[in-house]
Amino acid sequence: MLIVGLNMFHADASAALVQDGEVVFAIAEERLNRIRHYAGFPALAIKACLDFAGVKISDIDHVAIGHDSDANLAKKVQYSVSNPTKILNLIRIRQRKQPMRDVRSLVAQALDVDSKTLCFQEHHLEHHIAHIASAYYCSPWDKAAGFSYDGSGDFVSTMMARCEGNRIEVLDRVFLPDSLGSFYTMICEFIGYQQYGDEGKVMGLASYGQDTLCDKLAEVIGLRNGTFNLDHSFFKPLGSNGGMQLLPNGTVRLARHFSDTMVKAFGRPREPHAEITQREMDLAYAMQRRFEDVFFQLLNQLHQRVPCEELAMAGGCALNSVANGKLFMRTPFRRTWIQPAAGDEGLAVGAALHTYHAVLNQPRRFVMQNSFLGPEFSDARIESDLRKANLRYRKLEREPLLNAVAQQIAAGNVVGWFQGRMEWGPRALGNRSILAHPGLPGMKDVLNARIKQREWFRPFAPSILEERQCEYFEHDHPSPFMLHVYKIRPEKRAQLSAVNHVDDTGRLQSVSRDENPLYYELIRAFERETRIPVLLNTSFNENEPIVCQPEEAINCFKRTRMDLLAIGPYLSSKTEN
Ligand SMILES: [Fe+2]
Repeated sequence: MLIVGLNMFHADASAALVQDGEVVFAIAEERLNRIRHYAGFPALAIKACLDFAGVKISDIDHVAIGHDSDANLAKKVQYSVSNPTKILNLIRIRQRKQPMRDVRSLVAQALDVDSKTLCFQEHHLEHHIAHIASAYYCSPWDKAAGFSYDGSGDFVSTMMARCEGNRIEVLDRVFLPDSLGSFYTMICEFIGYQQYGDEGKVMGLASYGQDTLCDKLAEVIGLRNGTFNLDHSFFKPLGSNGGMQLLPNGTVRLARHFSDTMVKAFGRPREPHAEITQREMDLAYAMQRRFEDVFFQLLNQLHQRVPCEELAMAGGCALNSVANGKLFMRTPFRRTWIQPAAGDEGLAVGAALHTYHAVLNQPRRFVMQNSFLGPEFSDARIESDLRKANLRYRKLEREPLLNAVAQQIAAGNVVGWFQGRMEWGPRALGNRSILAHPGLPGMKDVLNARIKQREWFRPFAPSILEERQCEYFEHDHPSPFMLHVYKIRPEKRAQLSAVNHVDDTGRLQSVSRDENPLYYELIRAFERETRIPVLLNTSFNENEPIVCQPEEAINCFKRTRMDLLAIGPYLSSKTEN
């Protein structure tokens, strides 16, 4: 049985293919059309799914979409009736979703086939159920608490669920306009980070702040009876300025979230690119702390209703790795399974798996062991692209390649590492990565000056051999998808100076041999050189979506000051080119 899952006409459009209950391929459209957070129809992603499995669209039995415009309709109507001035805006937002209603025509048009040849059944699934499904149905558990939170989806910002067997039972929803994600986005905009997806940047800034604004910011979002309420006077009304706008080129533009009340309370907002002052750092600090307080209170509520130790979680806010790292101390949950594509691209996987299990009543049989669900490329293709780019290169066997790359990183060089299938989700996890020495004090500045050009306050992440995690970090729960931040042990901070954030933490990736044998062996080779079982790992890109194809990696290598490119079995050095 073949099921295609889709996230479409929504930020991070994507497609996933589920074959007999197993996710065999998944990709965000941005990786293929090179438009960040692309929010149109994922035509190229659907084609990539079909090509991978060698099937035609007429072979697909079901198409599942992680959006249901009829979900929570009563709540939408109720809000509109009590806020008649906003009805027009809400109607406009609903009209923008109209193309989603004719999925068959869209698919036929995108793939240039006659719609009469399409025999798939169509399923629409509420946004947050798809998020929870993307975590629970990929986890190894047959019972867990399910949690999803983000800015909004189908008029809901937060969902709690009991997950058991092949069922997800929704226990509670928080409806718009109350939204923890909107709170975070609004403060990020106020601080001057106004692009879709900028929240992760500001999370890094929070570590530089002090507790000067926490009490004041607590007025913006209140905690009551186990849930939360926004003080709406600090926000622009829901739907004003058109909300989140999808532009004709498929990019996303955020409307201003904060109101004049926010300006009166906290002063003038920072303009993008203006100097960052202590106020912005303190606001980021207060925002992160308040976010955590609300998050942990919600999780503790959830635990009372689903008393177990396992938490399956997704939604854009689940990318808050600082909060994720603390939840073991602040809640009774002891194990997490967080979907690596926790943002909205993950809806494609969730919708497809939910259709398989909950709609078609098929038993569980799949665990997502790693995130390598994207395309891979043959040695012949890679070599051809290297030749076309006029690059000199050497072809090496596995061991010599690992040793050569490890020695170069140990010597302080920066290596582009392109191997195997591309990662699913926003993190590079050792197949489309730029790698460097984690213990050279100036390495962060070197990477920023030569390649990444990121904000000075953003940390780089460490990849560590899973079995060595406890020696270096103060928590032992694995973080295979780079979704937890833990304290680095005091005696190891000097060894990890390039990945040690200002608050002595690191957003680690624990690497096991089973999940990625080649990357695991590379870290081992680096350890033989330096006695450090850790690599600095940042995504293989330069102000663009992460590279997908060999030629994109080669172009990035050529236009930046990366020292080496290890692409498949080929090694190319800047000094030889
Ligand atoms: Fe979402």
